[in-house]
Amino acid sequence: MKGLLGEVSEYRNFFAVKALPNPKIMKILREEGFGFDCSSMPELDLSRSIGAEPSDIMFTSNNTSEAEYAWAQMLGGSILNLDDKSFVAKVPVMPELVCFRHNPGELRDVDEKNPIGKTTDQKYGVRDDQIVEAYRLARERGAKRFGLHTMICSNERAYVKIVETTRVLLDVARRLKEELGIEVEFVNVGGGFGIPYKPTDETFDLPAFASEAKKLFDEFERNNGWRPKLFTECGRYVTGPHGVLVTSVINRMSKYHECVGVDACMSALMRPAMYDAYHHIYVPGAEGRPIEIVDVVGSLCENCDKFAKQRELPETREGDLLVIANTGAHGIAMGFNYNGRLRPKELLLRSDGSVELIRREETTEDYFRTLDFGVNVFKLALV
Ligand SMILES: Cc1ncc(COP(=O)(O)O)c(C=O)c1O
Repeated sequence: MKGLLGEVSEYRNFFAVKALPNPKIMKILREEGFGFDCSSMPELDLSRSIGAEPSDIMFTSNNTSEAEYAWAQMLGGSILNLDDKSFVAKVPVMPELVCFRHNPGELRDVDEKNPIGKTTDQKYGVRDDQIVEAYRLARERGAKRFGLHTMICSNERAYVKIVETTRVLLDVARRLKEELGIEVEFVNVGGGFGIPYKPTDETFDLPAFASEAKKLFDEFERNNGWRPKLFTECGRYVTGPHGVLVTSVINRMSKYHECVGVDACMSALMRPAMYDAYHHIYVPGAEGRPIEIVDVVGSLCENCDKFAKQRELPETREGDLLVIANTGAHGIAMGFNYNGRLRPKELLLRSDGSVELIRREETTEDYFRTLDFGVNVFKLALV
């Protein structure tokens, strides 16, 4: 990414911590020069714990509390990215450098099927007709340096859509200069660069995006006399294809359809249930077996707890391993404990072939940690 997008302008990706909030992974990314996009206090803590400096952290607010701003501004602060004009008055101390998330509304036609939805239905971002006023208010409160941000689509594989987003954002930058004399230091076109979940899906054409974006930045510089940096905050594009969920077949069941029951459930990967997302499944060692059509189901008491519906797979048997692909982003990170389901461990496969445990699996004790019984019934039960 850096090589190609570095041609467009001075470039940096702020890895969206929500995609894979594991310090071991974040440390590797930091060594590669990434910054971090955070939107909660624990994400800020994680980034700081691995040595991220204030300029390495972008805090993207949303429906944010004042306590969260205060946290983001501690320890030298972070690059504050405000989601609403009204937030200008709520930031405890206006930092020197501030940014706003722009929502272009009708200026951009985002596919309604996009997981974030239509721009005008989204809960995010400053309305286009309020954006200049937002910067004016921030400057009145003492901000001196500015950036500009947007994030309107998710898992978008059509590079032209991100080119269009860049075009709209650069036009907002032009208006800010014309109306307020503000030269934004960077434009952050967000994350949302898509990955191929299906083997037949096309990849995001990064070279084509870089080439078109460069033309837009070149033209912008010619017309306006300065060139903002280009930032992105991709999560999925960075780690998504490099993670898999490995699970074992524990039951073969014949309902009105054939079911393969596995020992993971949607608490480890909820994208299929939440977005009807496709994740390709491999059955190592099953090559040559007859193909059957099955649902791959977890153990949670929700009928949407299915990793695949009516999927063609080689015949599976109890004890087989299933490898569910492309779970390296928004996978375990979106996990939860409903139904007393515990989340699995995370293993890091390094390029030298070694494997490291980077998060242990949850235990029942973890599940009870927020309950104050006075006595530990879990331990008592084991005596
Ligand atoms: C503000 C913001 N930035 C970046 C991302 C990362 O998106 P992706 O992992 O699809 O690149 C998200 C994802 O929800 C987000 O909300």
